[in-house]
Amino acid sequence: MRCRKCSAKAIIRLPRHNTAFCPACFSEYVTDQIERAIKSDRMFGRDEGVAVAVSGGKDSLVLWEILSRLGYRTLGLHIDLGIGEYSERSRKKVEAFAAGRGLPFVVHSLREEHGAGLSEIAEGLRRPPCSACGVVKRYNMNAIAFQHGMPVVATGHNLDDEAARLLGNVLHWQEDYLDKQSPVLPNSHPKLVRKVKPLYRLAEREIAAWAVLQKIDYIVDECPNSQGSKMLLYKDALNRLEAASPGTKHQFYFQFLDRQKTRAQAAPAEPDLRECASCGQPSTAEVCGYCKLVGTLKVLQ
Ligand code: AMP
Ligand code: FES
Ligand code: ZN
Repeated sequence: MRCRKCSAKAIIRLPRHNTAFCPACFSEYVTDQIERAIKSDRMFGRDEGVAVAVSGGKDSLVLWEILSRLGYRTLGLHIDLGIGEYSERSRKKVEAFAAGRGLPFVVHSLREEHGAGLSEIAEGLRRPPCSACGVVKRYNMNAIAFQHGMPVVATGHNLDDEAARLLGNVLHWQEDYLDKQSPVLPNSHPKLVRKVKPLYRLAEREIAAWAVLQKIDYIVDECPNSQGSKMLLYKDALNRLEAASPGTKHQFYFQFLDRQKTRAQAAPAEPDLRECASCGQPSTAEVCGYCKLVGTLKVLQ
């Protein structure tokens, strides 16, 4: 197998693009796809700081690595969810990555802040851990980026994540969620930062291959709460379709994005946001979801 660009020995085949690359041309392809996402979707400019939400997994560490190599001013942002050994190892990967490159970062620890980790919080509230986790991550990513003067927060969601999420939203006809499933979510309140997903053009296996080639040390294990999750089921279904018909994931998600541009023009106005009576962060209700969650936790303790 030869590289389609330079004819050197290829190390990866990309059936969905009907191509194959050597290590150098593959690295260029990965970087180009990210730069293309940033520029064509107007995610952020060179003069803006970017908070990179880093979990310790391959996607977000690859994103942080490439953004810093491209010369963007970044701040790593890690939320230590306190899910036992999994969170300890995730945090260590982030700390080692940042220390090795001299990159600035902040860690927000649920246990240090509230005296309990995600599993105990979810158990106490009788909520599925992943739903409590969504509230915790969304709130803290925005609040911490905002506190540090970062106008943008970038996450490592890739093509597989976005296609699986789209499949879930379509299967349940969650049209409200469809409107929000875009690689760029502008800030609809002065205390909200823009949310961007610069890896949405890259498949999970492409990012994993790049991480291995660049010797990025990331946490391979999935969160213990994700076992048996719907997202993994949707990813598996899409992987089977992709194996039988390369390009399925890409077409599914990119054709949705094309249609979404038309939908966006006809979309209803954003709900009115006020400031949470407890923490001052933007909220649709008098008290935001995060303060409700933390408030109930205090009552339970
Ligand atoms: P996930 O929801 O685990 O698929 O993660 C999607 C993206 O959210 C990751 O690529 C990260 O950018 C971000 N993320 C997930 N977990 C954390 C965390 N504990 N701290 C900071 N960012 C995270
Ligand atoms: Fe949120 Fe696992 S990372 S519950
Ligand atoms: Zn609040």
